[in-house]
Amino acid sequence: MNLKLQFQDSAAFAAPLLAVFAVDIATGDDATPSPALLTTSDALCNTAAPWLATGEFKAKLGETLLLHSPANITAQRLLVIGMGRAAVLTVDEVRKASGVAVRFARACGLQELAIAFPEDKALSDEHMDSLPCDLTARAIAEGAILADFDIDFYRSDRKDQGIHAATVLHIETDRKSQAEMQTGLDEGIMVGHSQNFARSLINEPGNILTPTELGRRTATMCAEVGLSCDVHSIGKILELKMGAFAAVTQGSSEPPALIVIRYEPETPPVEGAPLIALVGKGITFDTGGISIKPADNMDKMKYDMAGAAAMIGAMRAIAQLKPAVRVLAVICSCENMPDGRAFKPGDVITAMSGKTIEIMNTDAEGRLVLADGLHYAKTLGATHLIDAATLTGAISIALGLLNAGLFSNDDDATQRFLNALPASGEKFWRLPCTDDYREQIKSQIADIMNTGGSRYGGAINAAMFLKEFVGDTPWIHLDIAGMAWLDDAKPWQSKGPSGIAVRSILEWVRSYAG
Ligand code: BES
Ligand code: MN
Ligand code: ZN
Repeated sequence: MNLKLQFQDSAAFAAPLLAVFAVDIATGDDATPSPALLTTSDALCNTAAPWLATGEFKAKLGETLLLHSPANITAQRLLVIGMGRAAVLTVDEVRKASGVAVRFARACGLQELAIAFPEDKALSDEHMDSLPCDLTARAIAEGAILADFDIDFYRSDRKDQGIHAATVLHIETDRKSQAEMQTGLDEGIMVGHSQNFARSLINEPGNILTPTELGRRTATMCAEVGLSCDVHSIGKILELKMGAFAAVTQGSSEPPALIVIRYEPETPPVEGAPLIALVGKGITFDTGGISIKPADNMDKMKYDMAGAAAMIGAMRAIAQLKPAVRVLAVICSCENMPDGRAFKPGDVITAMSGKTIEIMNTDAEGRLVLADGLHYAKTLGATHLIDAATLTGAISIALGLLNAGLFSNDDDATQRFLNALPASGEKFWRLPCTDDYREQIKSQIADIMNTGGSRYGGAINAAMFLKEFVGDTPWIHLDIAGMAWLDDAKPWQSKGPSGIAVRSILEWVRSYAG
């Protein structure tokens, strides 16, 4: 998609479709909706006014109203897109509404569209400043690019429904504001493509995206954006004594991959500067192993590498946005298969850190590969750790499908992450992993066991297990199992891989830039 910003009157721009955003400015809970366009263009407002007056369109988030051959407007169609109530408007509604514009245009078979930049100054003073122009431009770009993604890659009847050109229009004349919008748009383009890169990896079936293929695609991406990347094989895993990672991979005929990506800022870091490590769970297919999963929905377990994909996508964005901080990614990728050589319940294995682990359930494999990934990252000098993983079904029992789980041993790192969420528009909720939960993972015959003693608090037990391997290093664990795959399409997003965590991790990393 060729996405550009043009500073001119949107009403006079020739396009098959012009999208304009609307909010509900009614106040009070049961007031009748009162839609208002987020534009200072009189032509747009006057043309839409009689339609808005009918009350049919309520400006709910994702709601649309299409006008053909609109009077006094050059575009062939005017599409009004709701963003919900003005009182709670944020850039995240802009991201979604921009996505609605793209998906609507695609459904009409169009390959081009224009978007009128949402202007909060069209509202009364009390609603102003909810849309800073740089973040708004960024959100428009992200929303448009994310919406242009689909999962039908392997369908023979796949049509090229992609949008070729999108033009964002604003009548701003102030050079400084124009430059800010351009910077925001450029950032959004890089972030949107990086998140889509992660989604394209997650969408791949397990027979195609093997650990080897994940390594290959990651290395190709890294070469394109100037990151250094090493893809290590089983020899290195054994040499490093990664006994937990090795146990998970031993039942599979597909070779594992230990992927290490490095980003170095342009200005050399000062003594004592942070080194941030992103650690990803890259199980390219999780059958459960000997503790095999039921057949229903097992196909979904191709997305058990979504944590790894999030880290790879974040590294791509980091390479392009160039924050002044060193970043490292460690991806532990393998399959979890049942086989004559597979690891078994009751086995005792020794992790890279030296800790012994009693295997209670071979389906709790993610925490095993991450245990060695986190420890390895520390030996590479990491001062701050973050991991992302589709780790437990229990996280969706705890939080539903609206928030992903966050666990941490460090309040400062957590606060930085939570501060990143308004810009990313993603939802994470902190759950406890205090030492009183440690009782749950004590083993009779080894240091710890790989599942909790009971099924209560399953996501916490998994986090407690990981905590054993991070020591005093500030660490965040993101359990994205419930949020990595969308079962039903949204007006702004196709069903399938969401690419969650790319944007938040990026913002969190930037918070450490010197
Ligand atoms: N990959 C799964 C978790 C998962 C479940 C991801 C649903 C996405 C959707 C993980 O490896 C797993 O199997 N976890 C077990 C842990 C249990 C054996 C303690 C689970 O959640 O049931
Ligand atoms: Mn599993
Ligand atoms: Zn798994």
